[in-house]
Amino acid sequence: MREKIIKYLCCPECYMDLMLQKHNPSDSTGHIITGELNCKGCGNTYPIVDGVPFFNLNLTDSHIDLNRKNFADEWNYFTSNMDERNETLAKEELESCFNPFANYKDLENKFVLDAGCGGGRFIYVISKETNAKEIFGLDLSNAVITAFKNTKHFDNVTIIQGDITKPPFKKERLFDFIYSIGVLHHIQDPRQGFNSLVNNLKQDGKILAWVYGKEGNALYIRFADPIRKAITSKLPFKVNLSLSFIISLILWLIILTFYRPLNLILGEETVSKFLPFNEYFNFFRKRGFKDFWRTVFDKMVPTISYYISSEEFKTWFESNNLEYKIYFRNGHSWLGIGQPNKTLNNGKIKLESLQQTARTK
Ligand SMILES: C[S@@+](CC[C@H](N)C(=O)[O-])C[C@H]1O[C@@H](n2cnc3c(N)ncnc32)[C@H](O)[C@@H]1O
Ligand SMILES: [Zn+2]
Repeated sequence: MREKIIKYLCCPECYMDLMLQKHNPSDSTGHIITGELNCKGCGNTYPIVDGVPFFNLNLTDSHIDLNRKNFADEWNYFTSNMDERNETLAKEELESCFNPFANYKDLENKFVLDAGCGGGRFIYVISKETNAKEIFGLDLSNAVITAFKNTKHFDNVTIIQGDITKPPFKKERLFDFIYSIGVLHHIQDPRQGFNSLVNNLKQDGKILAWVYGKEGNALYIRFADPIRKAITSKLPFKVNLSLSFIISLILWLIILTFYRPLNLILGEETVSKFLPFNEYFNFFRKRGFKDFWRTVFDKMVPTISYYISSEEFKTWFESNNLEYKIYFRNGHSWLGIGQPNKTLNNGKIKLESLQQTARTK
């Protein structure tokens, strides 16, 4: 992390300012690689390790601890470096999450938060392609070390280890844009995570979230998810890596020899009406086998996964007085964007309308 960032951070326990101590000089990219942040209020100490400040090192809940360990394994293995292939895949996925509502390139001069940044693949693309003022990546897992390696050469990126439900940001509502892609459904209390992010949003800021849907996943929830819960989330990394490879290979063969020809003959819309997961498989078929393997691994390892209904998802926005749009993505998940409803919040200013092109449900 760079010293200039400390003014935006605070102690996640008592919200008081932090003091930099016991640090060595910045490296060639301007980062402090090792040191400590000390809270001026409660005296808590937060170590800076490999360029990343750690705010939640010791978790007492073993379920959450295993969740973050498994995610660290995923991102440290699959995004260990941002080569051309990983960059293209990240860019396409980012576009598919933003495009229904917004353009991720419109982040010029903005304060941006990637909530649950994993290995930092989206931050890499945003920093490279936009002129965002500052981009923060927050993640509970050790994937932050990979995220730091992938992004440390960008002047405007800071990676932080911490909990979305207790983020170490000053209370002044720092962010113009917060996005959280594939994260909130892996938090013990997803709604609490969402509320906490909204609390860090500026009055004219926007929040974008993508979560697993209850709709479109009935078969998965009934047959595969119990196996995740009872077995695969508890297996060692290498066993899951091999197992997910075999499952992906079998599914990939089915996709290529069965789903693909049917889509070519009948068209995607028709096939989606009678074949489960058709939109989902089509999305990954275009992205190649390795990314499909990663996503199968990603489904098998979390100890916490929720499936959110559209009704539930809408209430996240409504209970925070956000004006919002939601969009059903790839036939199995929900994307939503919201911004504080100024009419409701102070009775004066009329809110700019969000783009109407989204297919809403
Ligand atoms: C499926 S991954 C998505 C990562 C990233 N958004 C991406 O798509 O590349 C979910 C991430 O959420 C993080 N996570 C889970 N619970 C969290 C919490 N309470 N606070 C911060 N991050 C959390 C995990 O460590 C993991 O990296
Ligand atoms: Zn404190």
